[in-house]
Amino acid sequence: MLTIENEDFIKLVGFIKERYGLNLTDRKVLVESRLSNYVLDCGFDSFADYLNLVYNDSTQREVANMINRLTTNHTYFMRETAHYQHMMEVFLPWAEKNIKDKTLNIWSAGCSYGNEPYNIAMCLDEYFGLKRNKWDLKILATDISFNALKGAANGIFSASSIERMPDKWREKYFCHAQFGDYKVVDSIRNNVVFKYHNLMDDIHFKKKFHLIFCRNVMIYFNEETKSKVCRKFYDATETGGYLYIGHAESAPEDMPYKKIYTAVYRKTGDGV
Ligand SMILES: C[S@@+](CC[C@H](N)C(=O)[O-])C[C@H]1O[C@@H](n2cnc3c(N)ncnc32)[C@H](O)[C@@H]1O
Repeated sequence: MLTIENEDFIKLVGFIKERYGLNLTDRKVLVESRLSNYVLDCGFDSFADYLNLVYNDSTQREVANMINRLTTNHTYFMRETAHYQHMMEVFLPWAEKNIKDKTLNIWSAGCSYGNEPYNIAMCLDEYFGLKRNKWDLKILATDISFNALKGAANGIFSASSIERMPDKWREKYFCHAQFGDYKVVDSIRNNVVFKYHNLMDDIHFKKKFHLIFCRNVMIYFNEETKSKVCRKFYDATETGGYLYIGHAESAPEDMPYKKIYTAVYRKTGDGV
């Protein structure tokens, strides 16, 4: 395994923290183990030479490759089902009653391979049923992993990855694809728009969101980064809207949202 010089490691930690908010301070061994073979495969025999390529790549492709190797895109359907339950039983009844123009905006921030936003689309379909046509139901799904976004847009999943789905949903929302895989049906797939977005950047989406899912993403961020990201989410949330974070994650100390339950936060005010 290649080793990274302390000086190079400190520079890399600072670079990644500034650009992506990821905290790798105590992760020298992880960096070496996840990147060594890749650095050698790229034809370099030292981290220093490889990192020069990363820092000087104006297309940012190489930094994206590196980040993909350092973070986990692990995700699955029906993950942390308490959120889907809250969405169906509390959030959607509120949204149905209060959103006068019938345009519902939901954001899956850090969507990985798309299981989460597709799961959200399925919940919307179940909830609205025949009333669905009267609504404009928009789901934006973003990530920094080009690889995950590409896979997500294809909407193809292995049989094992949809195991947790209720049978009825599996039959209704997936069709058979090649090699025993399953494909999300078009009506659900077309409900989700996938885009690259780095949570460290400012939010320039046109509309505010009624619900933001940002689960198992901020686990990599330090307190200062979490605080900045949550403030950006807050400013991009409609009053009365919600933020869901992962159950294993902690909110920043200066969380602007009101905590409703574990991992469920709400933007209150204006009589809400
Ligand atoms: C473990 S997955 C979580 C997927 C899904 N939200 C879930 O809970 O199953 C974490 C995702 O966060 C993404 N991510 C990490 N840092 C990010 C950043 N700065 N901006 C946007 N996405 C980021 C990673 O690429 C990865 O796909």
